[in-house]
Amino acid sequence: MSGVAGPLVVLVGPPGAGKSSVARELGALLGAAVRDTDADVEATAGKPIADIFVEDGEPAFRALERAAVLQALATHDGVLALGGGAVLDADVQGALAAYRERGGVVAFLDVTLAAAAPRVGLNRSRPLLLGNPRAQWKALMEARRPVYEAVSSTRVLTDDLTPAQVADAVAAVLRAGEGEGTDG
Ligand code: S3P
Repeated sequence: MSGVAGPLVVLVGPPGAGKSSVARELGALLGAAVRDTDADVEATAGKPIADIFVEDGEPAFRALERAAVLQALATHDGVLALGGGAVLDADVQGALAAYRERGGVVAFLDVTLAAAAPRVGLNRSRPLLLGNPRAQWKALMEARRPVYEAVSSTRVLTDDLTPAQVADAVAAVLRAGEGEGTDG
């Protein structure tokens, strides 16, 4: 984990996987700064993500997100959590591949619908889950699972774990200096 240009670790996964909570735990555990591209996008736009979707549209959000991710991958040396859909972008995929090639660890925080639903909060404002949140989440995860698997170097099934336990699992992978190994 040392000597890799870029973040100590990058967290990817769907809404409800616990990326932000796990990033905070990992930051505390590793004594590292934590960055979240959703927060970066909101800071740049000066408004919440839900408002960006409604007022400017999803393509505008994705463009801001791409820029935020590429910037963070190039400049942030701590824990980096990506918004759930960021990995769909081809430029982001390329940057993550380059990061992995130089030894970076991309952790896919996996979760089933049953565990994600209460975490996401089905009545909370998440623009992509409007309408029928459970069905939307399921379709989204089915479409994205191959992408999360392709861009990541390790996977942790988070269903029965607290954010601290997930952080421990990711930290163990970092300590082992490997990009693979933890599964559940
Ligand atoms: C999105 C996930 C959200 C946020 C936006 C779009 C997605 O982030 O970036 O609402 O496409 O999955 P979280 O994964 O942190 O909820």
